[in-house]
Amino acid sequence: MNEDSNRTNETPETVINVGGAPLQESGSCLIEEPLDPCAIVIIGACGDLTRRKIILALFRLFKSGGLPDPFLVVGADLNDMTTEAYRDFIKESIQSLTGESLKQKDWDPFVSRLHYVVINPETDSPYDEVADFLKIEARDSHLSGNRLLYLAVPPSQYINIIQNLGKAGFAGEDEDWGGWSRVIIEKPFGRDLQSALELDRNIREYFREDQIYRIDHYLAKETVQNLLMFRFANAIFEPIWNRRYINHVQITAAETLGVEHRAVYYEQAGVLRDMFQNHMLQLLAMTAMEPPSVFEADRVRDEKIKVFRSLRPFPVGQIDDHLVLGQYVEGTVDGQTVPGYREETGVDERSLVPTFAMAKVFMDNWRWQGVPFYLRSGKRMATKLTEIAIEFKRVPNLLFRNVLSESIHPNVLVLRIQPDERITLTFQTKLPGARVCLQPVTMDFHYSSVQEGILLGAYEKVILDCLLGDHMLFVRQDGVEECWSFLSPILDACETCRDREQSLHLYEAGTWGPQEADDLMRDAGYAWRTL
Ligand code: BG6
Repeated sequence: MNEDSNRTNETPETVINVGGAPLQESGSCLIEEPLDPCAIVIIGACGDLTRRKIILALFRLFKSGGLPDPFLVVGADLNDMTTEAYRDFIKESIQSLTGESLKQKDWDPFVSRLHYVVINPETDSPYDEVADFLKIEARDSHLSGNRLLYLAVPPSQYINIIQNLGKAGFAGEDEDWGGWSRVIIEKPFGRDLQSALELDRNIREYFREDQIYRIDHYLAKETVQNLLMFRFANAIFEPIWNRRYINHVQITAAETLGVEHRAVYYEQAGVLRDMFQNHMLQLLAMTAMEPPSVFEADRVRDEKIKVFRSLRPFPVGQIDDHLVLGQYVEGTVDGQTVPGYREETGVDERSLVPTFAMAKVFMDNWRWQGVPFYLRSGKRMATKLTEIAIEFKRVPNLLFRNVLSESIHPNVLVLRIQPDERITLTFQTKLPGARVCLQPVTMDFHYSSVQEGILLGAYEKVILDCLLGDHMLFVRQDGVEECWSFLSPILDACETCRDREQSLHLYEAGTWGPQEADDLMRDAGYAWRTL
């Protein structure tokens, strides 16, 4: 037989000891497609997001060969500074964030691509200078006119900036520029359905949907992406991934941080807009969606949108049975006393903004009819953790009824998204000995035990995907609208109800949120399955 006829397209198997090291190395999963030369324009180049996430991600991508050649980064902001001063500012930021001093050999090749242009807000067209600079540089550096525009500014500025960029011709893919133009926008996309539609109308005046990359950085987390592989690349899970075998699902995104320096934004947002409209509903969609016909951006996004459409409208008349809201008061986190939300700088001392929410939601579709999904997220909680726990139905307790006093615990599958990414499955075994006693044991797989591949941070991944023109991990406008359609009635009910103060349950910082959330679970006969 010809040697080639034995080959398949599969990468070699990685054999994993549960919790141990790979026994056989897997094939490479690195992207090898060439990237188009391009200029990355960061609007809001002196801001926090640029300093803390974007530039660091670009620098890391550059070091691992994940940026095109040639490329250019153009920082644009209102601060009056030179390119030299901007380079120093960025260098200091990276060093203070990583706690390491940069090696000259890493830094020099990167920094020579970094430029700064001042935006002039006094003129009718504040981005003209940026456009002129880019056109000249694009020609001189052979960048083919390709532009990636990153809006690293507060959401309140989106419409104005988009309009100005549009007027300065940044969106055009015509002869004047040549090359493609893509724009990256961070959440939140509006603060309700109306404002999301308004934002979209403004963006679409200049950019087509396929030029827009709406980030939900949770989708770019390795373990979130892995949810689809876990579900659809393994034969054993999909047959039991439905109402016949699953009792309920718990999705937790807990943080130890408070509002930090973002009080102005957070006072307008609260946890429902900040975490539920986007990250929590995206996690739910990845857990609940049907298999797409093909692993392609629009087919995957179509399936997620079907999940959003099947969400049962929230019973706002019985909101207390389905939603618990909380706000943290002073407590201890990581051994440090931390102030309550109302004592944070910039927060109204009588603020009724929730920093914790737990919601019970249902989907009215064939797969999930009757299966509750409990979503919980909060700031200043006991630990930083994002996790999806699937609790399976109990076995009929007939066989052992004469020998076991207790009911048999259900199987629980936990997908830990962060930190310490892992997958665990709990099941029953017999304790050694003459008596019949059961003991739950856990099969535990840690991602860190597979030492293959480059682990990309979420921001590295989104920038890389945008450079590749891959929309898979970005949110489509119809998805944004569906999520707001589901959430807006809840927000209206919470924000306009007469007993708003009584419905906001206080919880001590450093705990798992208000007791009322645990009570809601307990009343249903469940307990949190957090690892
Ligand atoms: C952001 C929210 O989208 O996600 C923040 O605006 C939150 O309030 C953050 O802290 C959490 O992200 P991560 O990746 O740290 O879980």
